[in-house]
Amino acid sequence: MKRVFGTLLVIAIALLAALLLFVYSGVYNVAASEPHTRAVRWLLETTRNQSIIDRAEAVITPTDLNSEQRTVRGARLYASMCQLCHLAPGVEPTALHRGLNPQPPRLSAEASEHSSRYLFWTTKHGIKMTGMPAWGETHSDEELWDIVAFIKELPVMTAAQYQAAIQAPAAASHPY
Ligand code: HEC
Repeated sequence: MKRVFGTLLVIAIALLAALLLFVYSGVYNVAASEPHTRAVRWLLETTRNQSIIDRAEAVITPTDLNSEQRTVRGARLYASMCQLCHLAPGVEPTALHRGLNPQPPRLSAEASEHSSRYLFWTTKHGIKMTGMPAWGETHSDEELWDIVAFIKELPVMTAAQYQAAIQAPAAASHPY
């Protein structure tokens, strides 16, 4: 028994030493211009997905999420806060969209894969070490729900509809 513990201790110390050597040697390339290996990408994406899905369960969706007022208000907010990274129908890839790693997904393609609660939680809290900001630090929940309402419309929007939505005059006023 004593021998087993001794062996396990030696293995644990060796693993710790290997980890410290890896960290301090600078061997890992953090360049955003360098793609992640498949293993690292799997690790990061799975950790992110599970973390968000788990926390988003506690989010309560407002009953008027599908109201036209929300999407009208959300359009302007999306254009000023999100478009630069996440693009939109008819919008060419920007320098931020192209340069970030992980690359901000085109929400017009990905939004339908996620629940409203997932979209809200991510928008409010952001994602560490990715460039996705926590908008809840500076914006009210009501504003963020307006944006979520609009994002849910994005997948079925044409470029012309998008432009009309973000320029609609009524969007300028909102009560929060
Ligand atoms: C500076 C760039 C940047 C801005 C501005 C930005 N995001 Fe992001 N966002 C990102 C990046 C990068 C990711 C990808 C993170 C990852 O892959 O883990 C992301 C991920 C997301 C996701 C998760 C998508 C998915 O498929 O899991 C949502 C939802 C999202 N952003 C919403 C928004 C909203 C809404 C806004 C505006 C209020 C916004 N983002 C503004 C960079 C940005």
